[in-house]
Amino acid sequence: MAFERVGVVGLGTMGAGIAEVFARAGLRVIGVEADAEALARGRGHLERSTGKAVDKGKLAPGQRDEILGRITLTTSREDLRDVDLVVEAIPEILDYKISLFKDLDRICEPGTVLATNTSSLSVTAIAAATGRPGRVVGMHFFNPAPVMKLVEVVGTVVTEPGVVADVTALAGRLGKTAVAVGDRAGFVVNRLLLPYLNHAAALMELGVAGRDDIDAAMRLGVGLPMGPFALLDLIGLDTAYEVMGVLFDETRDRRHAPSPLLRELVTAGLLGRKSGRGFYGASGGAPHTKQAKSRLGTFKVVGYEDEGDGLAERLRAAGFKSSEEPDVVLRLADRPVIEHAVRLPDPARMVGVHLVGDQVAELASTALTSEHAATAARDLMKIVGLTPVPCKDRAGFVVDALLFPYLNDAVRMYDSGYASIEDIDAAMRLGCGYPAGPFEMLESFGLARVRDGLRALYTEYREPAFAPAPLLDQLVTADVSEFPRR
Ligand code: CAA
Repeated sequence: MAFERVGVVGLGTMGAGIAEVFARAGLRVIGVEADAEALARGRGHLERSTGKAVDKGKLAPGQRDEILGRITLTTSREDLRDVDLVVEAIPEILDYKISLFKDLDRICEPGTVLATNTSSLSVTAIAAATGRPGRVVGMHFFNPAPVMKLVEVVGTVVTEPGVVADVTALAGRLGKTAVAVGDRAGFVVNRLLLPYLNHAAALMELGVAGRDDIDAAMRLGVGLPMGPFALLDLIGLDTAYEVMGVLFDETRDRRHAPSPLLRELVTAGLLGRKSGRGFYGASGGAPHTKQAKSRLGTFKVVGYEDEGDGLAERLRAAGFKSSEEPDVVLRLADRPVIEHAVRLPDPARMVGVHLVGDQVAELASTALTSEHAATAARDLMKIVGLTPVPCKDRAGFVVDALLFPYLNDAVRMYDSGYASIEDIDAAMRLGCGYPAGPFEMLESFGLARVRDGLRALYTEYREPAFAPAPLLDQLVTADVSEFPRR
Protein backbone atom coordinates (compact mmCIF):
# COMPACT_ATOMS: atom_id res chain seq x y z
CA MET A 1 0.00 0.00 0.00
CA ALA A 2 1.33 3.45 -0.89
CA PHE A 3 0.82 6.16 1.70
CA GLU A 4 0.47 9.66 0.24
CA ARG A 5 -1.82 11.51 2.65
CA VAL A 6 -1.24 11.08 6.35
CA GLY A 7 -2.80 12.48 9.48
CA VAL A 8 -0.92 13.21 12.69
CA VAL A 9 -3.01 13.64 15.82
CA GLY A 10 -1.30 15.53 18.64
CA LEU A 11 1.29 18.16 17.76
CA GLY A 12 3.45 18.23 20.86
CA THR A 13 7.19 17.70 20.56
CA MET A 14 6.82 14.22 19.07
CA GLY A 15 3.73 14.80 16.89
CA ALA A 16 5.13 17.98 15.35
CA GLY A 17 8.44 16.21 14.70
CA ILE A 18 6.61 13.30 13.04
CA ALA A 19 4.55 15.69 10.88
CA GLU A 20 7.79 17.37 9.80
CA VAL A 21 9.35 14.01 8.89
CA PHE A 22 6.39 13.11 6.67
CA ALA A 23 6.30 16.51 4.99
CA ARG A 24 10.05 16.45 4.36
CA ALA A 25 9.57 13.11 2.55
CA GLY A 26 6.99 14.73 0.26
CA LEU A 27 3.79 13.39 1.85
CA ARG A 28 0.78 15.59 2.48
CA VAL A 29 0.04 15.92 6.18
CA ILE A 30 -3.04 16.90 8.14
CA GLY A 31 -2.03 17.83 11.68
CA VAL A 32 -4.80 17.74 14.27
CA GLU A 33 -4.84 19.31 17.71
CA ALA A 34 -7.55 19.59 20.33
CA ASP A 35 -8.01 23.38 20.27
CA ALA A 36 -6.71 26.57 18.71
CA GLU A 37 -4.16 27.18 21.46
CA ALA A 38 -2.60 23.71 21.14
CA LEU A 39 -2.65 24.10 17.35
CA ALA A 40 -0.72 27.37 17.64
CA ARG A 41 1.88 25.61 19.82
CA GLY A 42 2.15 22.83 17.22
CA ARG A 43 2.62 25.41 14.46
CA GLY A 44 5.33 27.03 16.61
CA HIS A 45 7.21 23.70 16.90
CA LEU A 46 7.09 23.23 13.11
CA GLU A 47 8.17 26.76 12.34
CA ARG A 48 11.02 26.74 14.88
CA SER A 49 12.38 23.36 13.82
CA THR A 50 12.37 24.12 10.09
CA GLY A 51 13.53 27.69 10.79
CA LYS A 52 16.62 26.36 12.60
CA ALA A 53 17.39 24.17 9.60
CA VAL A 54 17.26 27.24 7.36
CA ASP A 55 19.47 29.22 9.75
CA LYS A 56 22.02 26.41 9.66
CA GLY A 57 21.93 26.36 5.87
CA LYS A 58 20.54 22.79 5.89
CA LEU A 59 17.36 23.88 4.14
CA ALA A 60 16.73 26.64 1.58
CA PRO A 61 13.94 29.07 2.55
CA GLY A 62 11.96 27.87 -0.49
CA GLN A 63 12.24 24.25 0.64
CA ARG A 64 11.04 25.21 4.08
CA ASP A 65 7.96 26.87 2.55
CA GLU A 66 7.30 23.72 0.52
CA ILE A 67 7.55 21.52 3.63
CA LEU A 68 5.28 23.74 5.68
CA GLY A 69 2.95 24.07 2.66
CA ARG A 70 2.39 20.30 2.71
CA ILE A 71 1.09 20.47 6.28
CA THR A 72 -2.52 21.50 6.90
CA LEU A 73 -3.39 22.23 10.51
CA THR A 74 -6.88 21.73 11.89
CA THR A 75 -8.81 21.19 15.11
CA SER A 76 -11.31 18.87 13.41
CA ARG A 77 -10.63 15.13 13.38
CA GLU A 78 -13.28 14.83 10.68
CA ASP A 79 -10.70 16.30 8.25
CA LEU A 80 -8.88 12.94 8.43
CA ARG A 81 -11.59 11.11 6.46
CA ASP A 82 -9.51 10.79 3.25
CA VAL A 83 -6.04 9.98 4.61
CA ASP A 84 -4.19 6.68 4.04
CA LEU A 85 -2.55 6.58 7.45
CA VAL A 86 -3.03 8.29 10.81
CA VAL A 87 -0.26 8.45 13.41
CA GLU A 88 -1.41 9.27 16.92
CA ALA A 89 0.97 11.15 19.24
CA ILE A 90 -1.24 12.23 22.15
CA PRO A 91 -0.33 11.79 25.87
CA GLU A 92 0.48 8.29 27.15
CA ILE A 93 -2.90 7.57 28.72
CA LEU A 94 -4.59 4.42 27.46
CA ASP A 95 -8.16 5.68 27.91
CA TYR A 96 -7.43 8.79 25.81
CA LYS A 97 -5.86 6.68 23.09
CA ILE A 98 -8.69 4.17 22.99
CA SER A 99 -11.28 6.90 22.75
CA LEU A 100 -9.31 8.57 19.92
CA PHE A 101 -8.92 5.32 17.99
CA LYS A 102 -12.64 4.61 18.25
CA ASP A 103 -13.25 8.01 16.76
CA LEU A 104 -10.66 7.53 14.00
CA ASP A 105 -12.22 4.15 13.20
CA ARG A 106 -15.56 5.89 12.65
CA ILE A 107 -14.10 8.77 10.60
CA CYS A 108 -11.51 7.09 8.35
CA GLU A 109 -12.03 4.79 5.35
CA PRO A 110 -11.91 1.08 6.28
CA GLY A 111 -8.57 0.68 4.46
CA THR A 112 -6.81 3.46 6.38
CA VAL A 113 -4.01 2.23 8.63
CA LEU A 114 -4.17 3.60 12.16
CA ALA A 115 -0.82 3.83 13.96
CA THR A 116 0.04 4.76 17.52
CA ASN A 117 3.32 6.37 18.53
CA THR A 118 2.85 4.99 22.03
CA SER A 119 6.11 4.47 23.91
CA SER A 120 4.90 1.49 25.88
CA LEU A 121 1.14 1.04 26.02
CA SER A 122 -0.46 -2.09 24.58
CA VAL A 123 -0.97 -1.70 20.84
CA THR A 124 -3.16 -4.80 21.04
CA ALA A 125 -5.51 -3.10 23.52
CA ILE A 126 -5.74 -0.04 21.26
CA ALA A 127 -6.32 -2.21 18.16
CA ALA A 128 -8.98 -4.30 19.88
CA ALA A 129 -10.99 -1.17 20.65
CA THR A 130 -11.50 -0.54 16.92
CA GLY A 131 -13.47 -2.34 14.25
CA ARG A 132 -10.26 -2.82 12.23
CA PRO A 133 -7.75 -4.42 14.61
CA GLY A 134 -5.87 -5.90 11.65
CA ARG A 135 -5.00 -2.40 10.40
CA VAL A 136 -3.74 -0.95 13.68
CA VAL A 137 0.01 -0.93 14.39
CA GLY A 138 2.56 0.86 16.49
CA MET A 139 4.79 3.33 14.69
CA HIS A 140 7.20 4.48 17.36
CA PHE A 141 9.48 7.41 16.59
CA PHE A 142 12.31 8.74 18.77
CA ASN A 143 12.90 12.22 20.09
CA PRO A 144 13.91 14.38 18.24
CA ALA A 145 11.88 12.72 15.48
CA PRO A 146 13.53 14.61 12.60
CA VAL A 147 16.96 13.45 13.79
CA MET A 148 16.73 9.93 15.21
CA LYS A 149 16.85 7.32 12.46
CA LEU A 150 14.83 4.53 14.07
CA VAL A 151 11.14 3.65 13.84
CA GLU A 152 9.87 0.65 15.79
CA VAL A 153 7.00 -0.91 13.85
CA VAL A 154 4.85 -2.88 16.25
CA GLY A 155 2.56 -5.60 14.95
CA THR A 156 0.10 -7.45 17.17
CA VAL A 157 -1.26 -11.00 16.99
CA VAL A 158 -4.15 -9.70 14.87
CA THR A 159 -2.27 -7.37 12.49
CA GLU A 160 -3.08 -8.23 8.87
CA PRO A 161 -0.21 -9.70 6.89
CA GLY A 162 1.25 -6.95 4.77
CA VAL A 163 0.46 -4.00 7.04
CA VAL A 164 3.72 -4.25 8.99
CA ALA A 165 5.60 -4.63 5.70
CA ASP A 166 3.85 -1.57 4.22
CA VAL A 167 4.60 0.58 7.26
CA THR A 168 8.19 -0.69 7.31
CA ALA A 169 8.55 0.35 3.66
CA LEU A 170 7.10 3.75 4.50
CA ALA A 171 9.68 4.20 7.28
CA GLY A 172 12.37 3.57 4.65
CA ARG A 173 10.85 6.27 2.44
CA LEU A 174 11.10 8.66 5.40
CA GLY A 175 14.83 7.96 5.61
CA LYS A 176 14.42 5.85 8.74
CA THR A 177 15.38 2.29 9.57
CA ALA A 178 12.48 0.20 10.82
CA VAL A 179 12.76 -2.57 13.36
CA ALA A 180 9.62 -4.71 13.35
CA VAL A 181 8.73 -6.25 16.70
CA GLY A 182 5.83 -7.73 18.62
CA ASP A 183 3.75 -5.98 21.22
CA ARG A 184 5.57 -5.98 24.57
CA ALA A 185 5.73 -3.10 27.03
CA GLY A 186 8.53 -0.77 25.97
CA PHE A 187 9.25 -2.64 22.73
CA VAL A 188 13.02 -2.84 22.23
CA VAL A 189 14.38 0.59 23.04
CA ASN A 190 12.31 1.72 25.99
CA ARG A 191 12.51 -1.72 27.55
CA LEU A 192 16.29 -1.35 27.62
CA LEU A 193 16.67 2.42 27.97
CA LEU A 194 14.14 3.39 30.61
CA PRO A 195 15.30 0.94 33.32
CA TYR A 196 18.79 2.37 32.88
CA LEU A 197 17.48 5.93 33.27
CA ASN A 198 15.44 4.90 36.31
CA HIS A 199 18.52 3.22 37.77
CA ALA A 200 20.52 6.43 37.31
CA ALA A 201 17.87 8.28 39.34
CA ALA A 202 18.10 5.57 42.02
CA LEU A 203 21.91 5.88 42.21
CA MET A 204 21.57 9.61 42.66
CA GLU A 205 18.97 9.12 45.38
CA LEU A 206 21.26 6.65 47.13
CA GLY A 207 23.99 9.27 47.01
CA VAL A 208 26.32 7.02 45.00
CA ALA A 209 27.12 9.98 42.74
CA GLY A 210 25.70 13.33 41.69
CA ARG A 211 23.68 14.33 38.65
CA ASP A 212 26.45 16.07 36.74
CA ASP A 213 28.99 13.37 37.58
CA ILE A 214 26.70 10.55 36.44
CA ASP A 215 25.92 12.41 33.22
CA ALA A 216 29.60 13.11 32.58
CA ALA A 217 30.56 9.49 33.27
CA MET A 218 28.09 8.12 30.72
CA ARG A 219 28.78 10.77 28.10
CA LEU A 220 32.55 11.00 28.30
CA GLY A 221 33.27 7.53 29.62
CA VAL A 222 30.95 5.48 27.44
CA GLY A 223 30.47 7.91 24.54
CA LEU A 224 26.68 8.19 24.85
CA PRO A 225 25.33 11.37 23.26
CA MET A 226 23.70 12.47 26.51
CA GLY A 227 23.92 11.51 30.15
CA PRO A 228 20.84 9.92 31.71
CA PHE A 229 19.52 13.06 33.39
CA ALA A 230 19.92 15.26 30.31
CA LEU A 231 18.12 12.55 28.35
CA LEU A 232 15.31 12.30 30.90
CA ASP A 233 14.84 16.04 30.50
CA LEU A 234 14.65 15.60 26.71
CA ILE A 235 12.18 12.70 26.85
CA GLY A 236 10.02 14.40 29.47
CA LEU A 237 9.91 13.21 33.07
CA ASP A 238 6.16 12.62 32.87
CA THR A 239 6.60 10.37 29.81
CA ALA A 240 9.44 8.49 31.51
CA TYR A 241 7.31 8.07 34.63
CA GLU A 242 4.36 6.73 32.62
CA VAL A 243 6.55 4.32 30.65
CA MET A 244 8.16 3.00 33.83
CA GLY A 245 4.72 2.44 35.32
CA VAL A 246 3.64 0.41 32.27
CA LEU A 247 6.87 -1.61 32.34
CA PHE A 248 6.40 -2.35 36.02
CA ASP A 249 2.80 -3.42 35.52
CA GLU A 250 3.92 -5.92 32.91
CA THR A 251 7.11 -7.22 34.54
CA ARG A 252 6.63 -6.67 38.29
CA ASP A 253 10.41 -6.17 38.24
CA ARG A 254 11.11 -3.77 41.10
CA ARG A 255 13.83 -2.07 39.02
CA HIS A 256 10.96 -0.93 36.81
CA ALA A 257 9.08 0.76 39.64
CA PRO A 258 9.34 4.46 38.74
CA SER A 259 11.89 6.24 40.88
CA PRO A 260 10.26 8.26 43.69
CA LEU A 261 12.44 11.15 42.56
CA LEU A 262 10.72 11.10 39.14
CA ARG A 263 7.32 11.14 40.80
CA GLU A 264 8.31 14.06 42.97
CA LEU A 265 9.63 16.14 40.08
CA VAL A 266 6.62 15.33 37.89
CA THR A 267 4.22 16.29 40.67
CA ALA A 268 6.12 19.55 41.05
CA GLY A 269 5.59 20.24 37.35
CA LEU A 270 9.30 19.84 36.59
CA LEU A 271 8.89 17.83 33.40
CA GLY A 272 12.17 18.57 31.66
CA ARG A 273 12.72 20.64 28.53
CA LYS A 274 9.04 21.01 27.74
CA SER A 275 8.36 22.79 31.04
CA GLY A 276 11.72 24.57 31.09
CA ARG A 277 12.96 22.68 34.16
CA GLY A 278 13.55 19.07 35.11
CA PHE A 279 16.68 17.46 36.52
CA TYR A 280 18.55 20.44 35.19
CA GLY A 281 17.44 23.68 36.69
CA ALA A 282 16.22 21.69 39.70
CA SER A 283 18.41 21.48 42.78
CA GLY A 284 19.62 18.01 41.98
CA GLY A 285 23.30 18.29 42.79
CA ALA A 286 24.70 15.56 44.99
CA PRO A 287 26.91 15.84 48.04
CA HIS A 288 29.83 14.45 46.09
CA THR A 289 29.87 17.29 43.60
CA LYS A 290 30.95 19.89 46.13
CA GLN A 291 34.45 21.13 45.51
CA ALA A 292 36.90 21.72 48.34
CA LYS A 293 40.20 23.44 47.78
CA SER A 294 43.25 21.30 48.37
CA ARG A 295 46.98 21.53 48.28
CA LEU A 296 48.05 19.21 45.46
CA GLY A 297 49.87 16.50 47.24
CA THR A 298 51.91 13.36 46.77
CA PHE A 299 50.43 10.11 45.58
CA LYS A 300 50.95 6.41 45.33
CA VAL A 301 49.22 4.19 42.77
CA VAL A 302 48.53 0.56 43.62
CA GLY A 303 46.87 -2.34 41.84
CA TYR A 304 46.56 -3.47 38.20
CA GLU A 305 50.13 -3.15 37.02
CA ASP A 306 49.63 -1.89 33.45
CA GLU A 307 46.83 0.51 34.17
CA GLY A 308 48.38 1.55 37.46
CA ASP A 309 51.78 2.15 35.89
CA GLY A 310 50.17 4.17 33.11
CA LEU A 311 48.36 6.40 35.60
CA ALA A 312 51.46 6.79 37.79
CA GLU A 313 53.44 7.72 34.70
CA ARG A 314 50.91 10.39 33.73
CA LEU A 315 51.00 11.85 37.23
CA ARG A 316 54.79 11.90 37.32
CA ALA A 317 54.86 13.51 33.87
CA ALA A 318 52.59 16.24 35.25
CA GLY A 319 55.19 16.92 37.94
CA PHE A 320 53.76 15.03 40.92
CA LYS A 321 55.83 12.92 43.23
CA SER A 322 54.99 9.39 44.18
CA SER A 323 55.74 8.72 47.80
CA GLU A 324 55.56 5.96 50.41
CA GLU A 325 53.81 8.46 52.72
CA PRO A 326 51.44 9.96 50.18
CA ASP A 327 48.47 12.29 50.59
CA VAL A 328 46.41 9.89 48.57
CA VAL A 329 46.73 6.21 47.72
CA LEU A 330 45.05 5.66 44.38
CA ARG A 331 43.83 2.09 44.29
CA LEU A 332 43.01 0.72 40.83
CA ALA A 333 39.91 -1.04 41.98
CA ASP A 334 38.51 -4.51 41.60
CA ARG A 335 37.07 -5.66 44.93
CA PRO A 336 35.38 -3.11 47.22
CA VAL A 337 37.97 -0.42 47.91
CA ILE A 338 37.31 -0.60 51.62
CA GLU A 339 38.74 -4.15 51.70
CA HIS A 340 42.07 -2.73 50.49
CA ALA A 341 41.82 0.41 52.60
CA VAL A 342 41.52 -1.39 55.94
CA ARG A 343 44.90 -3.04 55.32
CA LEU A 344 46.63 0.36 55.26
CA PRO A 345 48.01 1.99 58.37
CA ASP A 346 45.91 5.03 57.41
CA PRO A 347 42.78 3.92 55.47
CA ALA A 348 41.61 7.52 55.24
CA ARG A 349 44.13 8.07 52.43
CA MET A 350 42.76 5.51 50.03
CA VAL A 351 40.57 6.38 47.04
CA GLY A 352 39.47 3.77 44.47
CA VAL A 353 40.13 4.61 40.83
CA HIS A 354 38.41 3.16 37.80
CA LEU A 355 39.50 4.52 34.45
CA VAL A 356 36.64 4.53 31.95
CA GLY A 357 37.77 5.02 28.38
CA ASP A 358 40.50 7.62 28.04
CA GLN A 359 38.64 10.56 29.54
CA VAL A 360 37.00 9.56 32.79
CA ALA A 361 38.32 8.46 36.18
CA GLU A 362 35.72 7.26 38.65
CA LEU A 363 36.96 8.01 42.15
CA ALA A 364 35.40 5.94 44.87
CA SER A 365 35.52 7.19 48.43
CA THR A 366 35.00 4.64 51.17
CA ALA A 367 33.34 5.28 54.50
CA LEU A 368 36.83 6.03 55.85
CA THR A 369 38.23 8.21 53.03
CA SER A 370 39.14 11.70 54.25
CA GLU A 371 37.87 14.78 52.45
CA HIS A 372 41.51 15.75 51.96
CA ALA A 373 42.34 12.51 50.10
CA ALA A 374 39.14 12.66 48.03
CA THR A 375 39.84 16.24 47.00
CA ALA A 376 43.49 15.52 46.25
CA ALA A 377 42.45 12.61 44.03
CA ARG A 378 39.99 14.83 42.12
CA ASP A 379 42.58 17.53 41.60
CA LEU A 380 45.23 15.06 40.43
CA MET A 381 42.87 13.59 37.86
CA LYS A 382 41.92 17.01 36.52
CA ILE A 383 45.53 17.99 36.14
CA VAL A 384 46.31 14.94 34.03
CA GLY A 385 43.32 15.74 31.81
CA LEU A 386 40.83 13.21 33.14
CA THR A 387 37.28 14.07 34.19
CA PRO A 388 36.90 12.92 37.80
CA VAL A 389 33.63 11.24 38.72
CA PRO A 390 33.50 11.11 42.51
CA CYS A 391 31.31 8.30 43.80
CA LYS A 392 30.76 5.99 46.72
CA ASP A 393 32.54 2.68 47.07
CA ARG A 394 29.69 0.56 45.69
CA ALA A 395 29.94 -2.35 43.26
CA GLY A 396 30.25 -1.12 39.69
CA PHE A 397 30.73 2.48 40.90
CA VAL A 398 28.68 4.47 38.35
CA VAL A 399 29.41 3.31 34.83
CA ASP A 400 29.46 -0.46 35.26
CA ALA A 401 26.52 -0.28 37.67
CA LEU A 402 24.45 1.45 35.00
CA LEU A 403 25.81 -0.22 31.90
CA PHE A 404 26.08 -3.89 32.84
CA PRO A 405 22.44 -4.42 33.88
CA TYR A 406 21.42 -2.78 30.59
CA LEU A 407 23.66 -5.21 28.68
CA ASN A 408 22.25 -8.09 30.72
CA ASP A 409 18.70 -6.98 29.86
CA ALA A 410 19.64 -7.00 26.17
CA VAL A 411 20.95 -10.57 26.47
CA ARG A 412 17.73 -11.66 28.17
CA MET A 413 15.66 -9.90 25.49
CA TYR A 414 17.52 -11.68 22.72
CA ASP A 415 17.40 -15.02 24.52
CA SER A 416 13.63 -14.66 24.94
CA GLY A 417 13.32 -14.58 21.14
CA TYR A 418 11.74 -11.09 21.09
CA ALA A 419 14.31 -9.50 18.76
CA SER A 420 17.50 -10.42 16.94
CA ILE A 421 20.95 -9.24 17.96
CA GLU A 422 21.15 -7.14 14.80
CA ASP A 423 17.79 -5.46 15.51
CA ILE A 424 18.60 -4.79 19.17
CA ASP A 425 21.98 -3.29 18.26
CA ALA A 426 20.49 -1.20 15.45
CA ALA A 427 17.64 -0.01 17.66
CA MET A 428 19.96 1.35 20.35
CA ARG A 429 22.36 2.93 17.86
CA LEU A 430 19.67 4.57 15.74
CA GLY A 431 17.02 5.22 18.39
CA CYS A 432 19.32 6.66 21.05
CA GLY A 433 22.45 7.64 19.13
CA TYR A 434 24.57 5.14 21.09
CA PRO A 435 28.03 4.63 19.59
CA ALA A 436 27.45 0.86 19.64
CA GLY A 437 24.60 -1.53 20.31
CA PRO A 438 24.60 -3.64 23.51
CA PHE A 439 25.99 -6.76 21.83
CA GLU A 440 28.72 -4.76 20.15
CA MET A 441 29.56 -3.29 23.56
CA LEU A 442 29.48 -6.70 25.25
CA GLU A 443 31.86 -8.15 22.72
CA SER A 444 34.23 -5.22 22.87
CA PHE A 445 34.33 -5.15 26.71
CA GLY A 446 34.74 -8.93 26.86
CA LEU A 447 31.90 -11.18 27.97
CA ALA A 448 33.77 -12.40 31.04
CA ARG A 449 34.33 -8.88 32.33
CA VAL A 450 30.64 -8.07 32.06
CA ARG A 451 29.61 -11.41 33.61
CA ASP A 452 31.98 -10.87 36.54
CA GLY A 453 30.81 -7.28 36.97
CA LEU A 454 27.21 -8.46 37.08
CA ARG A 455 28.10 -11.05 39.71
CA ALA A 456 29.66 -8.31 41.84
CA LEU A 457 26.56 -6.15 41.42
CA TYR A 458 24.33 -9.06 42.33
CA THR A 459 26.41 -9.82 45.41
CA GLU A 460 26.28 -6.19 46.52
CA TYR A 461 22.66 -5.31 45.82
CA ARG A 462 21.05 -8.81 45.86
CA GLU A 463 18.94 -7.65 42.95
CA PRO A 464 17.77 -10.77 41.05
CA ALA A 465 17.88 -8.98 37.69
CA PHE A 466 21.60 -8.25 38.18
CA ALA A 467 22.42 -11.97 38.15
CA PRO A 468 24.14 -12.69 34.82
CA ALA A 469 21.75 -13.93 32.14
CA PRO A 470 22.21 -17.70 31.75
CA LEU A 471 23.21 -17.28 28.10
CA LEU A 472 25.97 -14.84 29.03
CA ASP A 473 27.17 -17.10 31.81
CA GLN A 474 27.24 -20.14 29.53
CA LEU A 475 29.16 -18.35 26.78
CA VAL A 476 31.79 -17.29 29.30
CA THR A 477 31.99 -20.82 30.71
CA ALA A 478 32.44 -22.16 27.17
CA ASP A 479 35.12 -19.51 26.54
CA VAL A 480 33.17 -18.09 23.59
CA SER A 481 33.80 -14.41 22.93
CA GLU A 482 30.93 -13.64 20.53
CA PHE A 483 27.21 -14.16 20.64
CA PRO A 484 25.85 -16.79 18.29
CA ARG A 485 23.91 -15.04 15.50
CA ARG A 486 20.87 -17.29 15.10
N1 CAA B 1 14.48 18.98 15.92
C1 CAA B 1 15.15 18.94 14.75
N2 CAA B 1 16.48 18.83 14.65
C2 CAA B 1 17.16 18.78 15.82
C3 CAA B 1 16.56 18.82 17.07
C4 CAA B 1 15.14 18.93 17.10
N3 CAA B 1 14.47 18.97 18.25
N4 CAA B 1 17.51 18.74 18.03
C5 CAA B 1 18.68 18.64 17.39
N5 CAA B 1 18.47 18.66 16.06
C6 CAA B 1 19.47 18.55 15.01
C7 CAA B 1 20.34 19.76 14.99
O1 CAA B 1 19.77 20.79 14.19
C8 CAA B 1 21.61 19.21 14.37
O2 CAA B 1 21.43 19.09 12.98
P1 CAA B 1 22.67 19.23 11.97
O3 CAA B 1 23.64 18.14 12.34
O4 CAA B 1 22.03 19.00 10.62
O5 CAA B 1 23.21 20.59 12.18
C9 CAA B 1 21.67 17.78 14.93
O6 CAA B 1 20.33 17.46 15.32
C10 CAA B 1 22.58 17.67 16.12
O7 CAA B 1 22.11 18.61 17.09
P2 CAA B 1 23.04 19.55 17.97
O8 CAA B 1 24.33 19.82 17.24
O9 CAA B 1 22.23 20.69 18.46
O10 CAA B 1 23.30 18.72 19.27
P3 CAA B 1 23.91 17.31 19.46
O11 CAA B 1 24.97 16.98 18.47
O12 CAA B 1 24.24 17.30 20.90
O13 CAA B 1 22.70 16.31 19.21
C11 CAA B 1 20.81 15.08 19.87
C12 CAA B 1 21.46 16.45 19.86
C13 CAA B 1 20.50 14.65 18.45
C14 CAA B 1 19.53 15.22 20.67
C15 CAA B 1 21.83 14.06 20.52
O14 CAA B 1 22.23 14.54 21.77
C16 CAA B 1 21.23 12.70 20.71
O15 CAA B 1 21.23 11.87 19.82
N6 CAA B 1 20.72 12.43 21.95
C17 CAA B 1 20.06 11.17 22.28
C18 CAA B 1 18.60 11.32 22.03
C19 CAA B 1 17.84 10.07 22.36
O16 CAA B 1 18.30 9.16 23.02
N7 CAA B 1 16.58 10.02 21.89
C20 CAA B 1 15.69 8.91 22.16
C21 CAA B 1 14.96 9.15 23.45
S1 CAA B 1 13.87 7.83 23.82
C22 CAA B 1 12.48 8.20 22.96
O17 CAA B 1 12.35 9.20 22.35
C23 CAA B 1 11.44 7.17 23.00
C24 CAA B 1 10.36 7.33 23.97
O18 CAA B 1 9.31 6.80 23.69
C25 CAA B 1 10.55 7.95 25.28
